[in-house]
Amino acid sequence: MSDLSNMIAANADWFYLVGAILFVLTLRGLSSPKTAIRGNRFGMVAMAIAVVTTFFLAEGPVLWLIIGAMVLGAIVGMWKAKTVAMTQMPETVALMHSFVGLAAVAIALATVLHTEQQHGAVARVELFIGCFIGAITFSASVFAFGKLAAKSWAKTLVGGWVKPVQALLFIAMIAFGAVYFVTNSLPAFYAMAVIAVIFGWMWIAPIGGGDMPVVVSLLNSFSGWAAAGIGFTLGNSMLIIAGSLVGSSGAILSYIMCKAMNRSLLNVLFGGMGTSAVSAGSDDGAPKNYKAGSAEDAGFLMANASSVVIVPGYGMAQGRAQNAVKELYELLKEEGVNVRFAIHPVAGRMPGHMNVLLAEADVPYDDILEMDEINSDFASTDVVLVIGANDVVNPSAKDDPTSPIFGMPILEVTKAQTIMVIKRSMSTGYAGLDNSLFYMDKTMMIFGDAKKMVEEMVRSINGAGH
Ligand code: TAP
Repeated sequence: MSDLSNMIAANADWFYLVGAILFVLTLRGLSSPKTAIRGNRFGMVAMAIAVVTTFFLAEGPVLWLIIGAMVLGAIVGMWKAKTVAMTQMPETVALMHSFVGLAAVAIALATVLHTEQQHGAVARVELFIGCFIGAITFSASVFAFGKLAAKSWAKTLVGGWVKPVQALLFIAMIAFGAVYFVTNSLPAFYAMAVIAVIFGWMWIAPIGGGDMPVVVSLLNSFSGWAAAGIGFTLGNSMLIIAGSLVGSSGAILSYIMCKAMNRSLLNVLFGGMGTSAVSAGSDDGAPKNYKAGSAEDAGFLMANASSVVIVPGYGMAQGRAQNAVKELYELLKEEGVNVRFAIHPVAGRMPGHMNVLLAEADVPYDDILEMDEINSDFASTDVVLVIGANDVVNPSAKDDPTSPIFGMPILEVTKAQTIMVIKRSMSTGYAGLDNSLFYMDKTMMIFGDAKKMVEEMVRSINGAGH
């Protein structure tokens, strides 16, 4: 045993290098649904290498404490992974980030309290940065979790007082950090940590629920930087590399999400859309006409079409309609219809939301196409079935320079011959905007819950003896 531990400790840098390469391969694998499972496996091996190597490097570890914590963590993690519903994924991810933030704070505090160790100027800066980013990540992630899980304690803060209080807290946090840096004062460090926790909460609380996915992605990035900061403190290269990978990938994802919504990160973080709403109706106040049809009509049209593109949106997730949609897809395939799915990068409320739901329902990846792959095919498509999507198919993003979402790339469904839209009412989507697609001559609205309507379509196609 001691030979093995000596060997691992002596070659720790090599093990960390292998782990780091595997982490890079993990991210690469996760970039496509086809390779995501392999990517996940790389990540599991990389994490095992990192944990075991660090374990053998530690001086005089309290074995039972470490192993006990790992076993307990593994049990809770496996139980959660097996029981969590796909629709609860965003809040679960937010909660997990809060643990990373808390871990960074705990490590920083433990290092500061390690009295035999003298902390030099650089170490004090690292501890300060690691601790305050960790503390902000912790409380902001707990709030994001509460908001996404619709907990009553996660109330959105509004009012003119919020921004000045945020600024004061930020200045106080930096000031106590500076006092710690100059005087090595422990109380100043604790005060900085407590204020950072309060600041994290106050910073996220004014942001509307709809913007939480971008915030969660940004907090993911923060948790990575907090881990990297602590990696510097502990002199652990694995933590620095893994933290930087998480930090940069989270930052890139936040950027992609903002770009796909045609908004800036500052606009998301410091107010803007997501809370305002423009009611449905015409600009001059006069009612606009739309055509409504039944699920039976839709079933008939699709079964007799040669090509159908299904555009899922937030409503499919909200109505948990993915399994019914898969049934519809299979039935139309049996009828010889060319059926495919068109996925907009920000359809739903989290990155990959639609892909995850369709994968859960076992829809083959080959028939799930990204926006850039399918947009040129709409002109030759007979029927588009929009299921609970609104903003991602709103033509004003292309044609109306006054629209708040002008410039946002959309799925160009208006080019298809017939468009059918399942939603419960004429109300707006996330951006709070009316949608001219619903009033087009070739559009048929099918009012009702996504799951119920798709099930009725399946029944009508089956009943028609196709
Ligand atoms: P939305 O524009 O939000 O529209 C969803 C539509 O689904 C609503 O108009 C709603 O109409 C309908 N709906 C809700 N529940 C339903 C149910 N049970 N059955 C049937 N219909 C239902 O969704 P989208 O087109 O997917 O666009 C996503 C929006 O979220 C974009 O504006 C995007 O920028 C934003 N966003 C996305 C993300 C990510 S990363 N995906 C992150 C933040 C923000 P009714 O109420 O009339 O049924």
